[in-house]
Amino acid sequence: MKIFIDTANLDKIREVNSWGILDGVTTNPSLVAKENTDFETLVGEICKIVSGPISAEVMSETATEMVEEARKLAAINKNVVIKVPMTEEGLKATKTLAEEGIPVNMTLVFSAAQALLACKAGARYISPFVGRFDDVGEDGLRLIAEIMDILDSYDFDTEVIVASIRHPIHVTQAARMGAHIATIPYDVLKKMFNHPLTDIGIKRFKDDWAKVPKK
Ligand code: G3P
Repeated sequence: MKIFIDTANLDKIREVNSWGILDGVTTNPSLVAKENTDFETLVGEICKIVSGPISAEVMSETATEMVEEARKLAAINKNVVIKVPMTEEGLKATKTLAEEGIPVNMTLVFSAAQALLACKAGARYISPFVGRFDDVGEDGLRLIAEIMDILDSYDFDTEVIVASIRHPIHVTQAARMGAHIATIPYDVLKKMFNHPLTDIGIKRFKDDWAKVPKK
């Protein structure tokens, strides 16, 4: 499973990149709004840190405007992936951008039917939001299972980015289903490290090592 970080914060991206496990970055308008930098500069800076796909979202509502916005963002760096919302106009824009060779991450996916349409339109990635789906009493991981079932049956060149992740179990369960990518917030990535038995084990080894006679 590829691991992306879901943030626009450069310090967090640098830190997680230094762990050696980072394959890409996803941003969204809310994450960008937390940083005090204009969008294009921020995307350019992220591309300097991470050499994998970097998702940047368009804000236009018509397909024509989305495509224009996407072309400008794609010109920042060859690794920029355009995040397009799952709307009728978004589907049209995805089709056009895919034909131009600009990769699209179709976002705000909440059903297997939406995922199927995004794949048909040529989306390179689709982002089902598991946490937000759970929040409204639905089952986000079941949605991932349904989408993976569909992808297993056909030959789409589309990868699933499990998004809106709230805890490590979202990641590990999605990995068991074969989801291609998890985009994980910084705090959840930190939680994936931690296990109390690891900490206890390190302390016990350290204490015992202190008793070993030294030359
Ligand atoms: O970036 C898309 C998605 O991961 C947003 O997550 O936490 O705002 O539901 P969240």
